[in-house]
Amino acid sequence: MTNQLAGMTALITGAGDGIGLASAQLFAAHGAHVMVADIVEERANKAVEVIKSEGGQATPVQGDVSDEPSVQAMMDKAISATGRLDILFNNAGGGSGRDGSVVDLDLDEFWRTIRVDLFGTLLCCRNAIPHMQRAGCGSIINISSLRALIGTAGADAYTASKGGVLSLTRAMAMQWAGDNIRVNAMAPGVVLTERVAALIKPDNPIYQKMLLGPCKPQDVAELALYLASPASKRMTGTILPLDAGATSY
Ligand SMILES: NC(=O)c1ccc[n+]([C@@H]2O[C@H](COP(=O)([O-])OP(=O)(O)OC[C@H]3O[C@@H](n4cnc5c(N)ncnc54)[C@H](O)[C@@H]3O)[C@@H](O)[C@H]2O)c1
Repeated sequence: MTNQLAGMTALITGAGDGIGLASAQLFAAHGAHVMVADIVEERANKAVEVIKSEGGQATPVQGDVSDEPSVQAMMDKAISATGRLDILFNNAGGGSGRDGSVVDLDLDEFWRTIRVDLFGTLLCCRNAIPHMQRAGCGSIINISSLRALIGTAGADAYTASKGGVLSLTRAMAMQWAGDNIRVNAMAPGVVLTERVAALIKPDNPIYQKMLLGPCKPQDVAELALYLASPASKRMTGTILPLDAGATSY
């Protein structure tokens, strides 16, 4: 099926690279006008060039999901560019080598992760929902991690912030179902983006359990497309692992 998002506007955060970029390309190929939001302006601009060269519609938006005025400006830009906001994909975030166990992680890294992954998700929803309420519908897709579903040691700041994303997803799904705004989350295992491919070690506890092999950014983009599109119209509050068998291992 093609053009599953025809006529819709999708704002994807962290869309200048990795999973966000693959999703922006796929959403645009399915007819959405994609607002490519990224903290790094050149990444957003370059992603838009790529999407346009593929025949899609996209607008770059520089912004930081952890800063409320910046988030408000992102949503305003979506509305002024296309007059609507149908889909919000809260993708910006990710862990770093400064994470660890509760006794050895860098405490500044704890708050950075909470601010970007969890608070950033909250801020983007807070500023998108009024537009979706006015339109009478919407789909919000949050990105968590398999680390929030199964016990893994060594990335406690990231795991805690992604656990918060899951709980927030369920709470928002209950709150906004009456406005026909759906809220779902994906929990991928290892996804071989450029950043992760450079960091991943073969003894990574999740990597070893992914019986079908690690995901590619395009695999996550396909699931995000499903959650964004009317094909998932009866789904809200769901947490979908994308784990190549790891949760059953
Ligand atoms: N790659 C994986 O293995 C994996 C697994 C599970 C979940 N995830 C989640 O998927 C999401 C994307 O991961 P990725 O691997 O594609 O990351 P990535 O590092 O390849 O891309 C992230 C993008 O987000 C942008 N960004 C960072 N901070 C931002 C901010 N404050 N505001 C706006 N943009 C910001 C970056 O500039 C970058 O372009 C993250 O939330 C990550 O936690 C990734």
